[in-house]
Amino acid sequence: MKLFDVYPINNIEIVKGQGSLVWDAQGTEYLDLYGGHAVISIGHTHPHYVRRLENQLHKLGFYSNSIEIPLQQELAEKLGHVSGKEDYQLFLVNSGAEANENALKLASFYNGRKKVIAFSKAFHGRTSLAVAVTDNPKIVAPINETDNVIFLPWNDEAALEQAFADHKDEISSVIIEGIQGVGGIQVAPESFLRKIRSLCDEHNTVFIADSVQCGYGRSGKFYSFDYAGINADIYSMAKGMGNGFPIGAISIAPKIKPAYFMLGTTFGGNHLACAAALAVLEVMEHDNLIQNAAEVGGYLIDELKKFTQIKEVRGRGLMIGIELPEELAHVKKELLFKHHIFTGEAKPNVIRLLPALNLTKTHADRFLEAFSTVLAGEAVPH
Ligand SMILES: Cc1ncc(COP(=O)(O)O)c(C=O)c1O
Repeated sequence: MKLFDVYPINNIEIVKGQGSLVWDAQGTEYLDLYGGHAVISIGHTHPHYVRRLENQLHKLGFYSNSIEIPLQQELAEKLGHVSGKEDYQLFLVNSGAEANENALKLASFYNGRKKVIAFSKAFHGRTSLAVAVTDNPKIVAPINETDNVIFLPWNDEAALEQAFADHKDEISSVIIEGIQGVGGIQVAPESFLRKIRSLCDEHNTVFIADSVQCGYGRSGKFYSFDYAGINADIYSMAKGMGNGFPIGAISIAPKIKPAYFMLGTTFGGNHLACAAALAVLEVMEHDNLIQNAAEVGGYLIDELKKFTQIKEVRGRGLMIGIELPEELAHVKKELLFKHHIFTGEAKPNVIRLLPALNLTKTHADRFLEAFSTVLAGEAVPH
């Protein structure tokens, strides 16, 4: 049997990781500023995380949502506390797309409506509703096409007001990333988020805050939406939540009431997944990782802004986009193959930094030095 060939991959096999470092099969060390796409939040193989998962595995790995799973309640309490949303309700799933799928569906159950507002360059996942609100026709199959989604330009308050005026009380939800990831690290302006909040309030529309990539402390606050001083009705999350163990969730405002069988999943909220998510939150709290993301991220952003060759540096905390001019399109590959530094990318020509939230200043400096060498076109130091 062959693998279904859908991923263009780098010819590197990573076999070991510790903190922000990983090693390939030949023993070469790499600095990981990509975290497997913003997933590694507390660093690879964090000892507390390994211990908590191992202990749980010895007791019970899985049972479904037909029995009491106290770990779920423990996770709900911890997440409510760390995110500052103690009165919200938690529904656990397995991925980001699944979180958004359930958020959109729940919004529709709540107000009985069908239309959704999404924004240009949005990425919300690949399942049917999630991909329908994703602005990339290449990944939308004919079966996913729907008239229920209204795409609006990013940060256009007039267009937003017009859409609400045109569709009166038909709009079920507005879904937006606090910082667009795949869209090239675009920070949603606070005034725009506040406008969405007030229009949603006026029309009983559900505000869905896609925090799959920008959430979980990455921005230097638990949710990047916190910078705007607003509360969303549903927050979706996944990537950093399990530090690599597949888990996603939606955090749901108290006004949205549950009913039996309205949502459901076989694997969501299983014992091992909860243990992984609890370990992540414990480390985040104990080691002040949100503060570290704000500090080290702020430092990186300030230093990067000093490079005159960069078109623009965007982002918050440890979610950083470096937009380069066309002639510097080679930088990402050189960072990886000559300096052994993993970074992410977005089109057109944006390098994405999505490291673990405990990235040290020393590792940030190692990146800045390599970056400066590549930009200067100098010989590689080692
Ligand atoms: C903002 C955002 N939402 C949703 C998703 C989908 O998450 P998953 O790949 O876990 O389904 C992603 C993945 O990149 C994302 O960046």
